[in-house]
Amino acid sequence: MSGNKYIKIIATVANNGVIADNREIPWDANLKITEEFLDYTKNSIVVMGNHTFQDRGPILVNRKNWVVTSNVKNKRRTKGIKYFDNPEKVITTNPRTNKWVIGGADMFRYFMFVANEMILFYLKKDYEGDLHFPVIYEDVWDIKILEDNPDFKKVLYKRK
Ligand SMILES: NC(=O)c1ccc[n+]([C@@H]2O[C@H](COP(=O)([O-])OP(=O)(O)OC[C@H]3O[C@@H](n4cnc5c(N)ncnc54)[C@H](OP(=O)(O)O)[C@@H]3O)[C@@H](O)[C@H]2O)c1
Repeated sequence: MSGNKYIKIIATVANNGVIADNREIPWDANLKITEEFLDYTKNSIVVMGNHTFQDRGPILVNRKNWVVTSNVKNKRRTKGIKYFDNPEKVITTNPRTNKWVIGGADMFRYFMFVANEMILFYLKKDYEGDLHFPVIYEDVWDIKILEDNPDFKKVLYKRK
């Protein structure tokens, strides 16, 4: 199955697959991962579900913040933010511009079947949590370890 080369996923995942606990990230931010996240997504569109948008606080500057919510009508127009009532519309709007899907689990589940590339930072510890990254079918992806250090492994998935 061919993916959409403009759609990419970026996430940090605990060793046991956890990505969040009770709507919070259950680990302290890793500076190197944060820097890389900002580098990858700079000047592009970042796509997030409404929970992630609510939970992360300020909008990401120097990026277009696209938020998926079923409740578009009640949202106030704010500079830098665009709302979509359906993830399909994220794909069809500005179709030839890079979009980074940054979470949460709902968005990862949907866009994993569309994205052509994923960058996952795997922490080397387990964390307790109630949200997990979706199952990755390894026969779908070419997998390359880009970095392996004591704190995390950075893995590139490219759709075959
Ligand atoms: N580890 C990581 O890299 C990482 C990254 C990002 C976030 N997170 C964590 O993930 C948590 C949130 O994940 P989540 O899965 O609960 O939420 P989410 O994916 O951020 O957002 C879910 C919301 O998106 C909207 N939505 C989802 N599918 C939709 C559809 N088909 N049509 C219209 N709207 C749709 C709905 O918003 P409405 O309810 O408004 O309709 C839904 O409640 C955050 O609290 C954060 O801690 C972790």
